[in-house]
Amino acid sequence: MAAREKAQNVNISNVSTPKANTPKANTPSSASSASTPINKLAQVFTSTSSDITADIAEELAYTASPGDIICLVGPLGAGKTVFAQGFARGLGYTGRVTSPTFTIMQIYEGGRLPIYHFDLYRLEGGVEDLEGIGYEDYFYAGGVCLIEWPQMAKDAMPKTAKWVEIQADFDKDLEFRRIVIS
Ligand SMILES: Nc1ncnc2c1ncn2[C@@H]1O[C@H](COP(=O)(O)OP(=O)(O)OP(=O)(O)O)[C@@H](O)[C@H]1O
Ligand SMILES: [Mg+2]
Repeated sequence: MAAREKAQNVNISNVSTPKANTPKANTPSSASSASTPINKLAQVFTSTSSDITADIAEELAYTASPGDIICLVGPLGAGKTVFAQGFARGLGYTGRVTSPTFTIMQIYEGGRLPIYHFDLYRLEGGVEDLEGIGYEDYFYAGGVCLIEWPQMAKDAMPKTAKWVEIQADFDKDLEFRRIVIS
């Protein structure tokens, strides 16, 4: 299995701003205010550890279908990558899942479905930059897209996308998260 798995990186050259040097989970910050569509029924989970967040994502992955697009919203250090790790595990992918600096998209193959893991944090040019990497080829490739910082190219996100909002209040509790899936 491991030999079949491969993680590929797709970079775009004009995007070079490193992610803010903000410390992650221990950074005082208010909860995310990203909007959750109110016309859909939402599922709400609470998590008190990264393991629990990953387990919630793993469960979600069991029911994932080809073409699913999952937008992961939340402040720096909320747990979007932790969620992606659990999700990949749920699809049977056993390799490393990270959001490395300067990488816009990684492909994880070898699980039940291919995973296209985007991190749009540094996408200064919005949808235009995303077009530069031919994002639609991945959105409609029959795998699952996990997209961190989708707000950076909101207009490119299909109406059918699932939104996972990970809310944190680091002032109150470093490990508590509210996860709203809609
Ligand atoms: N309940 C929790 N759920 C998820 N992560 C948690 C939780 N409690 C603590 N953490 C910690 O918070 C951090 C989340 O980091 P992660 O890289 O997943 O954040 P992120 O949302 O992807 O940030 P970024 O926007 O920088 O990509 C990890 O260090 C993780 O261990
Ligand atoms: Mg991340």
